[in-house]
Amino acid sequence: MPTSKPGCPYGVHRVIEPEWVLPQAAWKVDNSPVIWDNEILIDVSTLNIDAASFKQIVSTAKPGATPGEVKEHVAETVLDIVSRRGKMHNPVTGSGGMLLGRVKEFGPKAPRRGAKEGDFVATLVSLSLTPLKVDKIKEVHLDKDQVDIEGTAVLFESGPFAVIPPDFRKTLALAVLDVAGAPAQVARLVGKGDTVVVLGAGGKSGLISLAVAREKVGPDGKVIAVAHSEASTERAKRLGVSDIVLSADARDATGTMMAVLKANGGKKADITINCVSVPGTEMASILCTRDRGKVYFFSMATSFTAAALGAEGVGADVELIIGNGYAENHAEIALDLLRRNKALRAILEEMFPGE
Ligand SMILES: NC(=O)c1ccc[n+]([C@@H]2O[C@H](COP(=O)([O-])OP(=O)(O)OC[C@H]3O[C@@H](n4cnc5c(N)ncnc54)[C@H](OP(=O)(O)O)[C@@H]3O)[C@@H](O)[C@H]2O)c1
Repeated sequence: MPTSKPGCPYGVHRVIEPEWVLPQAAWKVDNSPVIWDNEILIDVSTLNIDAASFKQIVSTAKPGATPGEVKEHVAETVLDIVSRRGKMHNPVTGSGGMLLGRVKEFGPKAPRRGAKEGDFVATLVSLSLTPLKVDKIKEVHLDKDQVDIEGTAVLFESGPFAVIPPDFRKTLALAVLDVAGAPAQVARLVGKGDTVVVLGAGGKSGLISLAVAREKVGPDGKVIAVAHSEASTERAKRLGVSDIVLSADARDATGTMMAVLKANGGKKADITINCVSVPGTEMASILCTRDRGKVYFFSMATSFTAAALGAEGVGADVELIIGNGYAENHAEIALDLLRRNKALRAILEEMFPGE
């Protein structure tokens, strides 16, 4: 039963410490599964941990750990963070992720957004602000950055969510919706005839960004994929939308720039999209971009100071854009992209098998 207490639309009533901040900025939130009048209670089945956060947690497993031990380490870390903060808000990366679950209960004033009790939904707000209670970790999927759990989460009145559409498997929809901000914003930023560089091009958001960039630049534009390992480079090639596919370590700023210049007749990009999951790639993005061009930092591992001071340091007059996780209709935009790009969908289906 919900309490009759009127809640703040942004969930400030759940903040425990420090006082008066919004839930994202809070160190700790109240994760009690008794909802206020404007909240939604969700029975959680899977956490989709943000890629930068998941990678950081995995990197702190003991050296030489077996996959089983790494899974155990991830499970312990998730339980530890959630028990201390009431939310899966990685204190190192500051990022969260999102979740999949069934709607258990709507408060009387909660927006239903076309959903009913029992529907499977993916939340479109970050786990870094979502009150979460984990009762049990069932499975850790190292290849998908996902963790199956038993537990509950609370969505605030202002928190969008999407009902999983019948033509998508839940695991795939969850993965795609996690990065739904990227396709919507890349579509707004890229114009006809642009040269676009995508860093982290063979990952989830990278492949999606490549596909959108191809649609927007048209026949006179150019799409340059900069992937990393052999496997992700192969995925970027298989997608078949890029004029050039390279592999580079984006932490090597000048090396990455030189590779792009060499492959592109000495020219830099009009816009660079950063979809890398590790820190230290701000300068590769900036150095690959022409003066008065744009750099879109979708990566959660981006440092504002490294980007702003780094651009200043090399005299690069580029527009630095932060990837907002939310854009109007971003869920529909992301799912529709997969519906019309069969190659993209096939690759992502392979990357995210499961129910
Ligand atoms: N702004 C937002 O709202 C939002 C929402 C969700 C996620 N994100 C962020 O977006 C980024 C990408 O997320 P994702 O889900 O697409 O992750 P992903 O599927 O894991 O892709 C990350 C890519 O980064 C590449 N990479 C790793 N180290 C690299 C290096 N040193 N040099 C070049 N590339 C490297 C990986 O290539 P290999 O596999 O070959 O190493 C991988 O293809 C993450 O930082 C994530 O936190 C942002």
